[in-house]
Amino acid sequence: MTATMELVAAIDELPVGARKSIFVDDLPALLIRVADEYFAIEDVCSHDGQPLTDGPVQAGQITCPRHGARFDLRTGKPMCMPATSGIAVFAVECREDGIYAGPKAAAETSFSAAAVGSTTAATATVSNPSAASAVAREAQANGDVDLDDGAIIDALRQVIDPELMINIVDLGLVYAVNHGEKKIQIDMTLTSPACPAGPQIVQQAKMVLEKLPGIEEAQIKLTMTPPWTPDRMTDEARDQLGIF
Ligand code: FES
Repeated sequence: MTATMELVAAIDELPVGARKSIFVDDLPALLIRVADEYFAIEDVCSHDGQPLTDGPVQAGQITCPRHGARFDLRTGKPMCMPATSGIAVFAVECREDGIYAGPKAAAETSFSAAAVGSTTAATATVSNPSAASAVAREAQANGDVDLDDGAIIDALRQVIDPELMINIVDLGLVYAVNHGEKKIQIDMTLTSPACPAGPQIVQQAKMVLEKLPGIEEAQIKLTMTPPWTPDRMTDEARDQLGIF
């Protein structure tokens, strides 16, 4: 049976880089032109229902304007947190009389580390003795912290990302730990630059560290380099998010 394609735009309606809100299969969708290619995607973020209508498009991906999840325009695959499931994508055809969009192609329903395409094998596994931790490797390379006592890492485990309800250590957000007798400096990242919980996470990390015995000051340095990728999460965090 041939699936029905619907006329959704005139050929000259979308200049390069333009987009149009349409409906496909009675679902709100977004028709986007990138160079000479057209994409039709579900216009609802899988994370929390935000329309993707105004999301920036770059390198074949659209970013949710609310919390920064990114989706592949071609496959609907989620490319970063906080989205863990995909959005629907639709077939698009350019015909003589206009642009047609049709039934859903199967969306990627969840992401995996391989799907995200990161080459970093930095699974943060402070709680998993069988694997090396990104935190441990970085800190030990610096010779700056003895992770055997785990006090700093354990303190940081008290800081929970309110979007995902997982602590920042198991999420793999902590990149490096440096400390002296009275000061601690943490290099850490966020799941996305637009993470609305960023200020809260930073404040809580500072607070828990400054409660450690002898510590007078904790500095939290935020970095987006390298950008966080889901493969930094511990297996425990993956289980909690239902990612396998
Ligand atoms: S609603 Fe889109 S990332 Fe949260």
